[in-house]
Amino acid sequence: MLCKRVAFALLAAVAAVRAAEDSDVTQLQKDTFEDFVKANDLVLAEFYAPWCGHCKALAPEYEAAATSLKEKGIKLAKVDCTEEADLCQAFGVEGYPTLKVFRGLDNVTPYSGQRKAAGITSYMIKQSLPAVSLLTKDTLEEFKTADKVVLVAYIDADDKESNETFTAVAEKHRDAFLFGGVNDAAVAEAEGVKAPAIVLYKSFDEGKATFTEKFDAEAIEKFAKVAATPLIGEVGPETYADYMTAGIPLAYIFAETAEEREKLGSALKPIAEKYRGVINFATIDASAFGGHASNLNLKADKFPSFAIQETTKNQKFPFDQEKEITHDAIASFVEGVVAGTIEPSIKSEPIPETQEGPVTVVVAKNYEDIVLDDTKDVLIEFYAPWCGHCKALAPKYEELAALYAESEFKDQVVIAKVDATANDVPDEIQGFPTIKLYAAGGKDSPVTYAGSRSIEDFVSFIAENGKYKAAVSLKEEAGEESQAAPAASESDAHDEL
Ligand SMILES: *[C@@H]1O[C@H](CO)[C@@H](O)[C@H](O)[C@H]1NC(C)=O
Repeated sequence: MLCKRVAFALLAAVAAVRAAEDSDVTQLQKDTFEDFVKANDLVLAEFYAPWCGHCKALAPEYEAAATSLKEKGIKLAKVDCTEEADLCQAFGVEGYPTLKVFRGLDNVTPYSGQRKAAGITSYMIKQSLPAVSLLTKDTLEEFKTADKVVLVAYIDADDKESNETFTAVAEKHRDAFLFGGVNDAAVAEAEGVKAPAIVLYKSFDEGKATFTEKFDAEAIEKFAKVAATPLIGEVGPETYADYMTAGIPLAYIFAETAEEREKLGSALKPIAEKYRGVINFATIDASAFGGHASNLNLKADKFPSFAIQETTKNQKFPFDQEKEITHDAIASFVEGVVAGTIEPSIKSEPIPETQEGPVTVVVAKNYEDIVLDDTKDVLIEFYAPWCGHCKALAPKYEELAALYAESEFKDQVVIAKVDATANDVPDEIQGFPTIKLYAAGGKDSPVTYAGSRSIEDFVSFIAENGKYKAAVSLKEEAGEESQAAPAASESDAHDEL
């Protein structure tokens, strides 16, 4: 046990065990999880690690929320990912704590509320209410402005199919938007639409957008995503993740003052209009987030500047900083990027002349040759020079690499690392270190490592997931603690911004 040497921690652990006995939070394991989620309509589950500071801070809040939600029949559960690695991996847990809302096993959404008891309680109560509010002539007007973006479906009272489709979309995206439904033909007519139709009301740009195609979940989702994104938005801590997961490139307009952002925004607006739904456009405050320019391979001390980031392949297209940002220059730049005639810029350290240690050093320029070599199982660590967990891992990782280098698998298994801050890699990295196995014959589906950071566990991971089932035997590790260092990083150890 972790706590055996530290009396204080031991006491704390005993206290925690006691508390667990009369807790309203249900501790779940692999064999109890499914049944619990099936048996309860609405479950909030926390995936945590006992060592994680944010998890500890959340614990009393989570307990209190569980108690106040008990009478509403809303269940809170938790899963210790150091004990239940498979379960956590199955749900894509990459950082701690991760909270997810379950409505059965097929409808899982990330929890995006606050981490305080009151916030959790109100968020979950909202989750338990119907996703679509039924509106009338009298309640519609107020509803239209109840949030920055609301979607209202105008449906005939007997049109079950459209109703069901819209309701399903609303259930899925209830965290992002407010959804309303109207089944009064006169109200629809007054709004200038004919059922079935959806109107998205927004507090910006043209104020509303209308969907009149046949109701189809995917088409509605796409419509909502495009129409809800401001023509020229703003990149900041609240919007960054949405832009990165939008599935289309993001064009950044860096400028230091609000006036300049406004000015460039309106100059480029016709381009944003032309590429609506193809490329998102957003300004970014260079005085606050100027450092992000270097992630796009722009110089971070020369503004205004412009760059496009292809978010799915993580390619960067910086616009020449010696040139002036004008409508015409950007129009032809964007056209070139879309047409593929402008090459992405790739940041890379030089390829090492020789590989010095047992760990193979990967840089952007040799990434493909080494990591995607289809004849080899490649375990790769994405690290940052400033990351403490990475430094702690380094000696063990070296040792692991040495074991393979000296084994019969030396030509089949590669243990590699890449400084992900100095090299553009195609992987989306959410925290450091991130460790993945690119198995031979399976380069398009790397497996992310979520076990503990012990050599033993790395070896079983490689043996289990690699093509060559390459297990090496461990040397006696005198004095090695059985409690391994944490695997996933805490969720705030992410990239800046
Ligand atoms: C959609 O169906 C539900 C369930 O039958 C019903 O309560 C609701 O009023 C319908 N919505 C509209 C807009 O007709």
